[in-house]
Amino acid sequence: MKNSIILRKICSQDQAIVQAILDAAPSYYMKIDGVPNAGSAKNVFEDLPPHCTADSKHVLLIENESIPVGVVEIIIGYPNSKVAWIGLLVIDEKFQGMGLGKASYDLTEEYLHQFAVDSIQLGVNDTNGVGMAFWPKMGFKMQGRTRINQGIKVTSTVYVMEKPT
Ligand SMILES: CC(C)(COP(=O)(O)OP(=O)(O)OC[C@H]1O[C@@H](n2cnc3c(N)ncnc32)[C@H](O)[C@@H]1OP(=O)(O)O)[C@@H](O)C(=O)NCCC(=O)NCCS
Repeated sequence: MKNSIILRKICSQDQAIVQAILDAAPSYYMKIDGVPNAGSAKNVFEDLPPHCTADSKHVLLIENESIPVGVVEIIIGYPNSKVAWIGLLVIDEKFQGMGLGKASYDLTEEYLHQFAVDSIQLGVNDTNGVGMAFWPKMGFKMQGRTRINQGIKVTSTVYVMEKPT
């Protein structure tokens, strides 16, 4: 597949496009929630960590050759002002394993250069073997923090990973 990826910042008017991408990644939701259709585009646009305002959230649509193939959700300034938090990076299952995840992550790092952050952090569920393999390949290391995530039918440990910018 030809990779010609761009990231495009979108707003909640594009919720249906994001929902279609989440619905096209059922294996991910099986791993973290135990059901295939647990992804909520509304939550992607609206969920905010404590003390964060709506303008700290960036939802980026990943398009390849103008076709929506994935989504990245970022919070700038969480868990502290010098950190960008990747809440989600998901590629439509039809397009996984073709290099689009790596290309999208590389563009996400470039996107983050405009902000005064020292590092990027994210949480990976231990039930998500693909995520546990993918992020270290992108240069992330275990940061040390963990928490328990109670999904709909699956309980997992979330490991915080970090990469300096
Ligand atoms: C994780 C994800 C974004 C990776 O995207 P992708 O397009 O499938 O990955 P790529 O083809 O770009 O591969 C990038 C690297 O990850 C590795 N990788 C990808 N899928 C893998 C898998 N199933 N098992 C082991 N390694 C894997 C590749 O081997 C590659 O490493 P390499 O460069 O050394 O060859 C994608 O699989 C996805 O959307 N998964 C569901 C959501 C998710 O788990 N997101 C992360 C947690 S927020």
